[in-house]
Amino acid sequence: MRGYAISPDFACELVRIVRELEPDLVVEFGSGVSTVISAYALSRNGHGRIVSLEHDANWCASSRALIAEHGLESIAEVVHAPLTPLDLHGERWLWYDVHAIEPLDSIDLLVVDGPPGHIQSLARYPSVPVMLERLSPEGAILLDDTDREDEQKALERWSREIESLTFEDRRTEKGAVIVRRNGPHPAP
Ligand SMILES: C[S@@+](CC[C@H](N)C(=O)[O-])C[C@H]1O[C@@H](n2cnc3c(N)ncnc32)[C@H](O)[C@@H]1O
Repeated sequence: MRGYAISPDFACELVRIVRELEPDLVVEFGSGVSTVISAYALSRNGHGRIVSLEHDANWCASSRALIAEHGLESIAEVVHAPLTPLDLHGERWLWYDVHAIEPLDSIDLLVVDGPPGHIQSLARYPSVPVMLERLSPEGAILLDDTDREDEQKALERWSREIESLTFEDRRTEKGAVIVRRNGPHPAP
């Protein structure tokens, strides 16, 4: 853990929020040890599954092997979702393939730990505008790496652009924020 992977204190945040929300569906951007930890927490809840979208084919295979090593295949699935161009409010982004996102609805917890920052400026900005309408009414978004300048800028943009959001700072070593909606769903 650490480096590309989540840090131990973020793992604790994951377990805490999976216990609190008791999600039926967790979706994650960026697979790895975080997928395994979420799956263990879901297994302790006794219900729910995690679908992790992974853009890198080799890393996808490694994450699947890790899940198999822990015997968590019935709870955790890693979907290969290459990054493809996405137009959002007149700007072009690279984002997880829409075909992988489309079947994912009523998401109770979205964990954002990808794509990696070197992909583009504000690499994770699309996560909120693209996924918000796919959250269940009480759904939440947990973001890693929020101490980085890019993630700070993405948080500022979301708070400016989407009125109904609340942000809870969780003060982990790399920074973590929980985003929730406090108002009605935005129009699709
Ligand atoms: C921040 S990492 C995601 C880490 C994941 N959530 C975990 O806890 O292991 C974002 C992306 O970087 C890539 N990645 C992960 N580990 C890597 C490594 N050790 N070296 C290079 N790329 C890596 C994968 O494509 C991953 O989706």
